[in-house]
Amino acid sequence: MAATSRQASSVSPDAPVPVIVAIDGPSGTGKSSTSRAVAAKLGLSYLDTGAQYRAITWWMLTHGIDVDDAAAVAAAADRPEILSGTDPADPTITVDGTDASGPIRTQEVTAAVSAVSAVPEVRARITELQRAIAAGAPTGIVVEGRDIGTTVLPDADLKVFLTASPEARAARRGGELKGNGEQGVDLEATREALLRRDAADSTRKTSPLKKADDAVEVDTTELTLEQVVECVVTLVEEKQQAR
Ligand code: DC
Repeated sequence: MAATSRQASSVSPDAPVPVIVAIDGPSGTGKSSTSRAVAAKLGLSYLDTGAQYRAITWWMLTHGIDVDDAAAVAAAADRPEILSGTDPADPTITVDGTDASGPIRTQEVTAAVSAVSAVPEVRARITELQRAIAAGAPTGIVVEGRDIGTTVLPDADLKVFLTASPEARAARRGGELKGNGEQGVDLEATREALLRRDAADSTRKTSPLKKADDAVEVDTTELTLEQVVECVVTLVEEKQQAR
Protein backbone atom coordinates (compact mmCIF):
# COMPACT_ATOMS: atom_id res chain seq x y z
CA MET A 1 0.00 0.00 0.00
CA ALA A 2 1.40 3.42 -0.86
CA ALA A 3 2.21 5.56 2.17
CA THR A 4 -0.06 8.56 2.50
CA SER A 5 1.16 11.95 3.68
CA ARG A 6 -0.48 11.25 7.05
CA GLN A 7 1.48 8.06 7.72
CA ALA A 8 4.77 8.55 9.53
CA SER A 9 7.44 6.11 8.35
CA SER A 10 7.68 4.60 11.90
CA VAL A 11 3.99 3.59 11.89
CA SER A 12 3.37 -0.13 11.44
CA PRO A 13 1.74 -0.99 8.10
CA ASP A 14 -1.23 -2.51 10.01
CA ALA A 15 -1.94 0.60 12.08
CA PRO A 16 -5.19 2.30 11.04
CA VAL A 17 -4.77 5.50 9.03
CA PRO A 18 -5.88 8.43 11.21
CA VAL A 19 -9.32 9.72 10.29
CA ILE A 20 -9.95 13.47 10.04
CA VAL A 21 -13.51 14.72 10.61
CA ALA A 22 -14.47 18.38 10.05
CA ILE A 23 -17.70 19.60 11.66
CA ASP A 24 -18.76 23.15 10.80
CA GLY A 25 -21.87 25.24 11.30
CA PRO A 26 -23.26 28.31 13.07
CA SER A 27 -23.70 28.70 16.84
CA GLY A 28 -26.31 26.64 18.65
CA THR A 29 -26.47 23.75 16.17
CA GLY A 30 -25.03 21.30 18.70
CA LYS A 31 -21.55 21.26 17.13
CA SER A 32 -19.55 20.99 20.36
CA SER A 33 -21.68 18.33 22.04
CA THR A 34 -21.86 16.33 18.82
CA SER A 35 -18.15 16.60 18.06
CA ARG A 36 -17.08 15.60 21.57
CA ALA A 37 -19.43 12.62 21.66
CA VAL A 38 -18.39 11.41 18.19
CA ALA A 39 -14.70 11.71 19.11
CA ALA A 40 -15.25 9.85 22.40
CA LYS A 41 -17.21 7.04 20.70
CA LEU A 42 -14.63 6.54 17.97
CA GLY A 43 -11.50 6.98 20.13
CA LEU A 44 -10.43 10.15 18.32
CA SER A 45 -9.00 13.44 19.55
CA TYR A 46 -11.24 16.52 19.66
CA LEU A 47 -10.50 20.17 18.89
CA ASP A 48 -12.84 23.10 19.60
CA THR A 49 -11.50 25.83 17.30
CA GLY A 50 -14.03 28.37 18.60
CA ALA A 51 -12.30 28.05 21.99
CA GLN A 52 -8.99 29.03 20.34
CA TYR A 53 -10.55 32.16 18.80
CA ARG A 54 -12.14 32.94 22.16
CA ALA A 55 -8.76 32.44 23.88
CA ILE A 56 -6.91 34.88 21.63
CA THR A 57 -9.81 37.35 22.06
CA TRP A 58 -9.59 37.03 25.86
CA TRP A 59 -5.84 37.67 25.67
CA MET A 60 -6.43 40.82 23.57
CA LEU A 61 -9.02 42.10 26.06
CA THR A 62 -6.85 41.42 29.11
CA HIS A 63 -3.83 43.07 27.45
CA GLY A 64 -5.69 46.29 26.68
CA ILE A 65 -5.74 45.81 22.89
CA ASP A 66 -8.65 47.61 21.20
CA VAL A 67 -10.43 44.69 19.50
CA ASP A 68 -11.97 47.05 16.92
CA ASP A 69 -8.50 48.17 15.82
CA ALA A 70 -7.61 45.45 13.29
CA ALA A 71 -4.02 46.69 12.90
CA ALA A 72 -3.42 46.49 16.67
CA VAL A 73 -4.97 43.01 16.84
CA ALA A 74 -2.87 41.88 13.84
CA ALA A 75 0.34 43.21 15.41
CA ALA A 76 -0.32 41.22 18.61
CA ALA A 77 -1.62 38.03 17.00
CA ASP A 78 1.63 36.07 17.50
CA ARG A 79 2.10 36.99 21.17
CA PRO A 80 -0.15 34.68 23.23
CA GLU A 81 0.78 31.04 23.65
CA ILE A 82 -2.42 29.04 23.19
CA LEU A 83 -2.45 25.34 24.05
CA SER A 84 -5.43 23.04 23.49
CA GLY A 85 -5.85 19.68 25.23
CA THR A 86 -7.65 17.35 22.82
CA ASP A 87 -9.07 14.60 25.06
CA PRO A 88 -12.83 14.65 24.31
CA ALA A 89 -13.52 13.65 27.95
CA ASP A 90 -11.63 16.69 29.22
CA PRO A 91 -10.82 19.30 26.57
CA THR A 92 -8.64 22.08 27.99
CA ILE A 93 -7.36 25.47 26.85
CA THR A 94 -4.57 27.52 28.35
CA VAL A 95 -3.26 30.96 27.42
CA ASP A 96 0.32 31.70 28.48
CA GLY A 97 0.03 28.80 30.91
CA THR A 98 -3.22 29.97 32.55
CA ASP A 99 -6.44 27.93 32.36
CA ALA A 100 -8.76 30.01 30.15
CA SER A 101 -11.74 27.65 29.97
CA GLY A 102 -13.93 29.84 32.21
CA PRO A 103 -13.02 33.37 31.05
CA ILE A 104 -13.41 32.54 27.34
CA ARG A 105 -17.16 31.86 27.84
CA THR A 106 -18.04 35.33 29.25
CA GLN A 107 -20.39 37.68 27.38
CA GLU A 108 -17.51 40.15 26.99
CA VAL A 109 -15.47 37.62 25.03
CA THR A 110 -18.51 36.43 23.07
CA ALA A 111 -19.26 40.03 22.01
CA ALA A 112 -15.66 40.64 20.85
CA VAL A 113 -14.75 37.31 19.22
CA SER A 114 -16.19 37.98 15.75
CA ALA A 115 -14.10 41.16 15.34
CA VAL A 116 -10.89 39.46 16.47
CA SER A 117 -11.46 36.30 14.42
CA ALA A 118 -12.04 38.36 11.26
CA VAL A 119 -8.43 39.64 11.31
CA PRO A 120 -6.39 37.68 8.70
CA GLU A 121 -3.23 37.53 10.88
CA VAL A 122 -5.28 35.98 13.70
CA ARG A 123 -6.75 33.40 11.32
CA ALA A 124 -3.32 32.55 9.88
CA ARG A 125 -1.90 32.01 13.38
CA ILE A 126 -4.80 29.90 14.64
CA THR A 127 -5.09 27.90 11.41
CA GLU A 128 -1.42 26.92 11.73
CA LEU A 129 -2.04 25.69 15.30
CA GLN A 130 -5.09 23.72 14.15
CA ARG A 131 -3.26 21.99 11.30
CA ALA A 132 -0.35 21.01 13.59
CA ILE A 133 -2.76 19.55 16.17
CA ALA A 134 -4.68 17.59 13.51
CA ALA A 135 -1.46 16.23 11.96
CA GLY A 136 -0.28 15.01 15.37
CA ALA A 137 -3.46 13.19 16.44
CA PRO A 138 -2.50 9.50 16.61
CA THR A 139 -5.83 7.90 15.67
CA GLY A 140 -7.40 10.96 14.08
CA ILE A 141 -9.44 13.91 15.24
CA VAL A 142 -12.82 15.61 15.15
CA VAL A 143 -12.29 19.34 14.54
CA GLU A 144 -15.27 21.66 14.97
CA GLY A 145 -15.56 25.24 13.78
CA ARG A 146 -16.69 27.50 10.96
CA ASP A 147 -14.05 27.07 8.23
CA ILE A 148 -12.59 23.63 8.90
CA GLY A 149 -13.97 21.91 5.79
CA THR A 150 -13.37 24.89 3.51
CA THR A 151 -9.99 26.20 4.67
CA VAL A 152 -8.25 24.52 7.59
CA LEU A 153 -8.54 20.85 6.55
CA PRO A 154 -9.86 20.79 2.98
CA ASP A 155 -8.71 17.13 2.62
CA ALA A 156 -10.69 15.92 5.67
CA ASP A 157 -12.06 12.38 5.29
CA LEU A 158 -15.53 13.52 6.27
CA LYS A 159 -17.05 17.01 6.33
CA VAL A 160 -20.32 17.68 8.12
CA PHE A 161 -22.21 20.98 8.14
CA LEU A 162 -24.74 21.26 10.97
CA THR A 163 -27.71 23.64 10.69
CA ALA A 164 -30.84 24.34 12.80
CA SER A 165 -33.61 26.92 12.85
CA PRO A 166 -32.79 30.24 14.58
CA GLU A 167 -35.37 29.41 17.29
CA ALA A 168 -33.80 26.03 18.07
CA ARG A 169 -30.32 27.58 18.08
CA ALA A 170 -31.35 30.41 20.43
CA ALA A 171 -33.06 27.94 22.77
CA ARG A 172 -29.94 25.73 22.92
CA ARG A 173 -27.61 28.68 23.43
CA GLY A 174 -29.93 30.06 26.15
CA GLY A 175 -29.86 26.63 27.83
CA GLU A 176 -26.04 26.62 27.72
CA LEU A 177 -25.87 30.08 29.30
CA LYS A 178 -28.25 29.01 32.07
CA GLY A 179 -26.16 25.87 32.55
CA ASN A 180 -23.10 28.14 32.97
CA GLY A 181 -24.89 29.88 35.83
CA GLU A 182 -25.90 33.09 33.96
CA GLN A 183 -28.92 34.75 35.58
CA GLY A 184 -31.99 36.13 33.77
CA VAL A 185 -31.16 34.84 30.27
CA ASP A 186 -33.41 36.67 27.76
CA LEU A 187 -34.16 34.31 24.84
CA GLU A 188 -35.04 37.09 22.39
CA ALA A 189 -31.81 38.99 23.16
CA THR A 190 -29.87 35.70 22.90
CA ARG A 191 -31.44 35.03 19.50
CA GLU A 192 -30.55 38.50 18.22
CA ALA A 193 -26.96 38.34 19.50
CA LEU A 194 -26.51 34.88 17.97
CA LEU A 195 -27.87 35.98 14.56
CA ARG A 196 -25.66 39.09 14.63
CA ARG A 197 -22.57 36.98 15.36
CA ASP A 198 -23.45 34.47 12.63
CA ALA A 199 -23.99 37.32 10.14
CA ALA A 200 -20.57 38.77 11.02
CA ASP A 201 -18.90 35.33 10.83
CA SER A 202 -20.57 34.55 7.46
CA THR A 203 -19.75 37.84 5.74
CA ARG A 204 -16.14 38.42 6.80
CA LYS A 205 -13.60 38.42 3.96
CA THR A 206 -11.19 35.77 5.26
CA SER A 207 -12.54 32.20 5.43
CA PRO A 208 -16.15 32.98 6.41
CA LEU A 209 -18.58 30.48 7.93
CA LYS A 210 -19.55 28.41 4.89
CA LYS A 211 -20.57 24.88 3.96
CA ALA A 212 -17.87 23.11 1.93
CA ASP A 213 -19.17 21.85 -1.42
CA ASP A 214 -18.43 18.26 -0.39
CA ALA A 215 -19.87 18.50 3.14
CA VAL A 216 -22.89 16.50 4.27
CA GLU A 217 -25.53 18.91 5.63
CA VAL A 218 -27.45 17.74 8.71
CA ASP A 219 -30.41 19.81 9.95
CA THR A 220 -30.52 19.20 13.71
CA THR A 221 -33.71 21.19 14.44
CA GLU A 222 -35.88 18.14 15.07
CA LEU A 223 -33.15 15.74 16.16
CA THR A 224 -31.91 14.79 19.62
CA LEU A 225 -28.19 14.95 20.36
CA GLU A 226 -28.07 11.13 20.34
CA GLN A 227 -29.61 11.04 16.86
CA VAL A 228 -27.11 13.56 15.47
CA VAL A 229 -24.20 11.68 17.06
CA GLU A 230 -25.42 8.37 15.62
CA CYS A 231 -25.78 9.94 12.19
CA VAL A 232 -22.22 11.36 12.21
CA VAL A 233 -20.70 8.15 13.64
CA THR A 234 -22.37 6.18 10.83
CA LEU A 235 -21.00 8.62 8.24
CA VAL A 236 -17.46 8.24 9.66
CA GLU A 237 -17.71 4.45 9.71
CA GLU A 238 -18.92 4.41 6.10
CA LYS A 239 -15.91 6.52 5.08
CA GLN A 240 -13.53 4.21 6.98
CA GLN A 241 -15.00 1.12 5.32
CA ALA A 242 -14.69 2.70 1.89
CA ARG A 243 -10.94 3.30 2.32
O1 DC B 1 -18.02 28.09 18.35
P1 DC B 1 -17.91 29.35 19.18
O2 DC B 1 -19.20 30.07 19.37
O3 DC B 1 -17.19 29.13 20.47
O4 DC B 1 -16.97 30.31 18.30
C1 DC B 1 -16.65 31.60 18.72
C2 DC B 1 -16.30 32.47 17.54
O5 DC B 1 -15.07 32.08 16.96
C3 DC B 1 -17.31 32.51 16.39
O6 DC B 1 -18.25 33.54 16.57
C4 DC B 1 -16.45 32.76 15.18
C5 DC B 1 -15.08 32.29 15.57
N1 DC B 1 -14.67 31.07 14.89
C6 DC B 1 -14.13 31.20 13.64
O7 DC B 1 -14.06 32.31 13.13
N2 DC B 1 -13.65 30.10 13.00
C7 DC B 1 -13.73 28.90 13.56
N3 DC B 1 -13.23 27.83 12.92
C8 DC B 1 -14.33 28.74 14.84
C9 DC B 1 -14.81 29.86 15.48
